[in-house]
Amino acid sequence: MGALHRKRIADWLLTAPTEQEIEVAGWVRTKRGNKEIAFIALSDGSTINNLQIVAELSKFDEELVKKIQTGASIRAKGKLVSSQGSGQAVEMVAESIELLGEADAETYPLQKKKHTLEFLREIAHLRPRTNTFGAILRIRHSLAFAIHKYFNDHHFYNIHAPIITGSDAEGAGEMFRVSTIDPANPPRKEDGTVDYSQDFFGKESNLTVSGQLEAELAAMALSRVYTFGPTFRAENSNTARHLAEFWMIEPEMAFFELDDNMDLAEDFLKYLIRYAIEHHADDLAFLEKRLLDEETLLPKESRNPLPLTEKLKFVTENPFERITYTEAIAVLEKSGKKFEFPVKWGIDLQSEHERYLVEKHFKKPVILTNYPKDIKAFYMKQDEDGKTVRAMDVLFPGIGEIIGGSQREESYEKLSKRIHEMNIHEESLWWYLDTRKFGTVPHSGFGLGFERLVLFVTGMGNIRDVIPFPRTPKNLEF
Ligand code: 4AD
Ligand code: MG
Repeated sequence: MGALHRKRIADWLLTAPTEQEIEVAGWVRTKRGNKEIAFIALSDGSTINNLQIVAELSKFDEELVKKIQTGASIRAKGKLVSSQGSGQAVEMVAESIELLGEADAETYPLQKKKHTLEFLREIAHLRPRTNTFGAILRIRHSLAFAIHKYFNDHHFYNIHAPIITGSDAEGAGEMFRVSTIDPANPPRKEDGTVDYSQDFFGKESNLTVSGQLEAELAAMALSRVYTFGPTFRAENSNTARHLAEFWMIEPEMAFFELDDNMDLAEDFLKYLIRYAIEHHADDLAFLEKRLLDEETLLPKESRNPLPLTEKLKFVTENPFERITYTEAIAVLEKSGKKFEFPVKWGIDLQSEHERYLVEKHFKKPVILTNYPKDIKAFYMKQDEDGKTVRAMDVLFPGIGEIIGGSQREESYEKLSKRIHEMNIHEESLWWYLDTRKFGTVPHSGFGLGFERLVLFVTGMGNIRDVIPFPRTPKNLEF
């Protein structure tokens, strides 16, 4: 049988053993045993569980057996039998073993002992071979798949937003320049500044911080659309929640107001978490145990109040709290807690404030709405009071902001006035403003940070550990 239709270890582990002849290939996790028999734990990445291969040593070449070491790759043929030992239902009695690739035990960095996550980041090229990263990568894949499935099932069209742009969608100025100009000898204008009209695109260009503006254009024709692409932010925040390159999901819906937007965000997040619970019980059980082991070293108050899978179920089974920014400020002021950043109406909420609201006060996800206009982007719909905008941030326990979104300002006059007030270069946004001139409609959308979602579902503590090759300040190895 060709490789395409060959069964994987995950499949064999669920197959009733009838001493049928099977073939598997993978990487050796461990080998143990005695002079007569070896037990090889083999992984092909299809599941957190290994297939135990039992090899009677008299049947195999001594040199070959020596080379079957942790990290080596082998192909094995034999019979699938019910297992004598505990821990697995089936195992393979090997009849032939072919060594595909050796792994020198002296230099192979992944040994049996537990490695720290910091060390594994330094060997990001090999860390997918650990149980922890195998589980994370499988869950990450399923969440990406579930995102497309959810939107397809709800009649959203996937839009591929450009990665190189000439505009700053968030107006925060945290962009990576894209240029083919020779940095040692750039063309200059008379005033000495660099002349970008001579650059590749004939103007300044950057990697996108968001696909939203383009998604809005498409929503003005297809009603419900979403983007799911890489986004880039040159903010120098070296935290466990920020990446310079991350993936964002941005739905945009015509005829949706703020309440509809919140309904979608809540239903969508619950669906994704449920999908992971249903499809990754083994991986989640592994990650939950890992987390509990790790937490035994921490003082009680720093441990998670619920084990991972219970936390996930809790979020899917309870309504999110929905309150306005103004109400949240009142809760924080009444808390009597001394925050590092003092609380006062108008401040941008810091992570300590968000965590207090979510983890201490409401003890569940919170959707905060109607933020002061001065701390939010230019495109958000202005409230009647002239002070706030129809923003919504979804805050999650242990994560903080997982979603940021809003109803959009659909009035040409109001939007253009706000663009001027905020000193944004209006000419670069003429095409965006056109949507408000021609058949404008109420519409809304949001951005979900994909890695923050994976962080929450896997219970990991650092965003660098839920993306295969993280990009952060001073870090671009792999
Ligand atoms: O709140 P943000 O900046 O919103 C936007 O970009 C809007 N254009 C979204 C929209 O309305 N279509 O980012 C959205 C989400 C955040 O809530 C967070 O989860 C994630 O993107 N995010 C990051 N994730 C990892 N690293 C970073 N540096 C991130 N910055 C934002
Ligand atoms: Mg935000």
